[in-house]
Amino acid sequence: RKLSIIGMPMDLGQMRRGVDMGPSAIRYAGVYERLKPLFDAIEDLGDIPIGRPEVSVDEESNLRNLDLVAEKNTLLAEKVDEVIQSGSFPLVLGGDHSIAIGTLAGVAKHYKNLGVIWYDAHGDLNTSETSPSGNIHGMPLAVSVGLGHELLTDIGGYSPKIRPEHVVIIGARSLDEGERILIKEKGIKVYTMHEIDRMGMAKVMEETIAYLKDKTDGVHLSLDLDGLDPSECPGVGTPVMGGISYRESHLAMEMLEEAKLITSAEFVEVNPILDEKNKTASIAVGLMGSLFGEKLL
Ligand code: ARG
Ligand code: MN
Ligand code: MN
Ligand code: MN
Repeated sequence: RKLSIIGMPMDLGQMRRGVDMGPSAIRYAGVYERLKPLFDAIEDLGDIPIGRPEVSVDEESNLRNLDLVAEKNTLLAEKVDEVIQSGSFPLVLGGDHSIAIGTLAGVAKHYKNLGVIWYDAHGDLNTSETSPSGNIHGMPLAVSVGLGHELLTDIGGYSPKIRPEHVVIIGARSLDEGERILIKEKGIKVYTMHEIDRMGMAKVMEETIAYLKDKTDGVHLSLDLDGLDPSECPGVGTPVMGGISYRESHLAMEMLEEAKLITSAEFVEVNPILDEKNKTASIAVGLMGSLFGEKLL
């Protein structure tokens, strides 16, 4: 088993600066050293070049940095595609959550029925019509099921990347009106904080794994650190109180590892400028350890 780490230092999908330093923060927290013993081979491919582009709002669609987000995600999609072709597991370090558009464009090519676990306080199911902010990091899941601006949905030259019935959202506690409608309309499976409290994380993960196992041929984990509670993960741009705990999150990762379900992953929205002593990046690295099979005994 081989792991390839890809940094995606992009903050163009939202307005709070600093999330472009997420990959550095996660590397500083020791991602390479921590994961090295868990793989036969590991490589850090460095960062997708983002540069310091001028930010702008697309006049016609009202989407912030539309062209740039599309352009940079195309680069990411190509890199992820290459990594999978080479037989390696792609681990993408964000960056704001708009980078999932590129990751999924690269991954979904390789699977007929890709499943997605969206671990997040948010649904990220907005389109330019429903978005309250114009921020593309609130849209990547909608884009991946084929809804939204063509410049985003058509990255990689095909759309949609995934089917709504292959998506499970875990940790939701902040959904916009348009997102609620879409979830009901498309029958997207969602475990809100209510279900996590009520059923416990173990049951939530058992059900999630059972739900995805037979109908998918690969499952991508898209983990937004704001899915966790901001008291434990303060280094995120859009914190929402009442989140998933550190312990529940480790359990979730361990259960995914036991199920051998996950075929690609990304950890996003780590913003070291808003963090306390790189705590959020450290938790991200710890969760990766559990996801990839670190054992105490
Ligand atoms: N729903 C809000 C929006 O669309 C917040 C999205 C937050 N997304 C994230 N990946 N942190 O603007
Ligand atoms: Mn920005
Ligand atoms: Mn979020
Ligand atoms: Mn998100």
